Amino acid sequence: SSSDIKKLRQPIVTVLGHVDHGKTSLLDKIRGTAVVRKEAGEMTQEVGASVVPRSVIQKVAEPLKNIIPLKLEIPGLLFIDTPGHELFSNLRKRGGSVADISVVVVDVTEGFQKQTFESIQILRDRRVPFLMAANKIDRVPGWQPNPNQPFTVSISRQSKEVQSRLDTLIYKLVMDLAQLGFNAERFDRVRDFTRNVAIVPVSAKTGEGIPELLALLAGLSQRYMENRLKVVEGPAKGVVMEVKEEIGLGHTIDVIVYDGILKKNDILVLAGLNGPIVTRVRGILVPKPLQDIRIVKTDFVSLDEVVAAAGVKISAPGLEEAIAGSPLYVAEDESRIEQLKKVVEEE
Ligand code: GTP
Ligand code: MG
Repeated sequence: SSSDIKKLRQPIVTVLGHVDHGKTSLLDKIRGTAVVRKEAGEMTQEVGASVVPRSVIQKVAEPLKNIIPLKLEIPGLLFIDTPGHELFSNLRKRGGSVADISVVVVDVTEGFQKQTFESIQILRDRRVPFLMAANKIDRVPGWQPNPNQPFTVSISRQSKEVQSRLDTLIYKLVMDLAQLGFNAERFDRVRDFTRNVAIVPVSAKTGEGIPELLALLAGLSQRYMENRLKVVEGPAKGVVMEVKEEIGLGHTIDVIVYDGILKKNDILVLAGLNGPIVTRVRGILVPKPLQDIRIVKTDFVSLDEVVAAAGVKISAPGLEEAIAGSPLYVAEDESRIEQLKKVVEEE
């Protein structure tokens, strides 16, 4: 029954990798799957993030229940995209710092590139566990697509030549990961997920392998991170991902709330260009729910509170000098402000 479900927050999954290797396409495909499989009112909109709810993961992973047993206790997965261009190293680092778990996307036909190495170094420095999505398997010569099927189903329908072509490409990824000090295997050959990096072959174009990717992310995060994901009913903690001026709202910050509960009128403490900023939350904003995910233009709706993990836009006075990448804390009362100012200055 639902009362047996432990209160875990949704894990934050950051998607990292080299430019053009398919991070955004993979997320679009996952979101598309989620929109198609959703029940009415299930898809919540987030700022700078997309959520795949538990019910969708369960449906998508249904054909895999013999291979990947999955009784989901997490409410869903919160995905954050990052750009792969070399100039955006700061955004990759920010993404890496809020991640509970990460997906490093690599074009399997190209193998490791500069920002693939860099992404893994960021995750290693921050001790973030990760999976590798070996993307674009539909481009392996001779590949016969089986749209939206699990990889295990699709690979069994490929010729022996195609199977070994893919294995050769995956072996190259294994070698590059070994250079960085990681033992890696194709996910269906991994025995111990705490010791091995699982490589999941996928195609963002055909949707093959996405069932396993979602099942593994959900299964691994709730199995190995239960303590980290316990919902703390305290004041919010977050990271500022972007500072933006919005028509009618002035300067706003896009924030990933990774812990606690954020409420309207909460006292915020964050880093600013001329020292810490202390202000009060005026609006907690998320995009209006959309029927069509292709519509880019959005209006915002205001919430009274939001529970971690979530991506929201915050409007508040005095955010002109906010710094992207800054930690953000809520002060429970005025007496905490000075201490939190020191914390944000030091981080
Ligand atoms: P940056 O954000 O610039 O770092 O790139 P990205 O990693 O988000 O890559 P993106 O999703 O924009 O994809 C780059 C190109 O690869 C696009 O033309 C996609 O259509 C194509 N692409 C992505 N995934 C696949 C795939 O699985 N198969 C094929 N054939 N093409 C793909
Ligand atoms: Mg992209």
